Amino acid sequence: MNILGIETACDDTSAAVVRDGHTILSNVIWDQQHVHEKYRGVVPELAARKHTEVITCVIESALNNANVTYDDIDGIGVNSMRGLLRSVVVGVAAAKVIAYTKNIPIIGLHHIEGHIYSIILDNPDIEFPFLCLTVSGGHNMLIHVHRHGQHRLLGMTLDDAAGEAFDKVAKFLNIGFPGGPVIDKLAKSGNPDAFSFPRPMLKKNNDDFSFSGLKTSVLTTVKNLKKKGIAIPIPDIVASFQEAVVDVLVNKTMRAAIREGIKTIAVAGGVSANSRLRQAFVNASGEKDMDLYFPPMSLCMDNAAMIASLAYYKLKNGEVSSLSLDACSNAPFGMKGCM
Ligand code: KG4
Ligand code: ZN
Repeated sequence: MNILGIETACDDTSAAVVRDGHTILSNVIWDQQHVHEKYRGVVPELAARKHTEVITCVIESALNNANVTYDDIDGIGVNSMRGLLRSVVVGVAAAKVIAYTKNIPIIGLHHIEGHIYSIILDNPDIEFPFLCLTVSGGHNMLIHVHRHGQHRLLGMTLDDAAGEAFDKVAKFLNIGFPGGPVIDKLAKSGNPDAFSFPRPMLKKNNDDFSFSGLKTSVLTTVKNLKKKGIAIPIPDIVASFQEAVVDVLVNKTMRAAIREGIKTIAVAGGVSANSRLRQAFVNASGEKDMDLYFPPMSLCMDNAAMIASLAYYKLKNGEVSSLSLDACSNAPFGMKGCM
């Protein structure tokens, strides 16, 4: 079964063709980083306009690279439930046009469930249940995945997602966009113990997160150093900030896994590319003899291959959306779709 995936949640326009849920025939990602770089953050209106400009070309490239035509496509999976509304609308509209004109079933999907399939796609034999931390710029959730299509949201961020905190700290320090990869690199030459930043929610007896206070604490520390005329030790600041984020993400995930009696942990989303986070999870899961999965680097960020993989499982289960499928920006996790 060949599935065409379409993903336009934020600032990546992506289309992919995936065979039988696990074989990527193509995965085209048109990255808008250069559009938003000078604003040091994603500008929603510009993102939507760029998606509109390039979506047709991206979809055609995905088909060409996969060496297939619409006649070979058995289903279209599209993120219809999470992201910047005007960006999501572009992907949904494109998917509906193709579904209608080519008479192909369409499946509206939740972006975050898609991130879980960035791991399943690459690891068809992963054992259920597993605990999935999906952590990126727009979301930060801890999910108990029982089996395909059956999961329970244990906790989420109450304010900023971890990736958002990375981006905002980098913006404040004026060190580049997006902040995650820049901080990851700079932190390698910094001392993670130089500053003692708070570990928000670590002691709270729940699975929720909060990174807004940590970000503010970094900003206040930097402002105070500036006031005193002290040169800002950027590598030490970002290494200490990153350590606080990693500490919270790893410890809260491990605690939830032990409580739920789960022996397999998966980490997905843009922040799962972070080298310190990966190392800390390897150490923590190793100590508890748990299995650990990360997506390949090419599937950490938003991409349509994960959406196509998820659509394959939905279609196999008989789940199809109608052509009145609508775009939502923030549908609750687990929702069936905005029909
Ligand atoms: O999954 P994604 O492409 O988009 C969202 O759904 O938000 O993730 C993008 C986020 C950005 O916040 C970016 O700073 C972060 O992932 N990110 C990282 C790293 N690479 C990307 N954060 C920390 N370390 C990294 N190496
Ligand atoms: Zn994402």
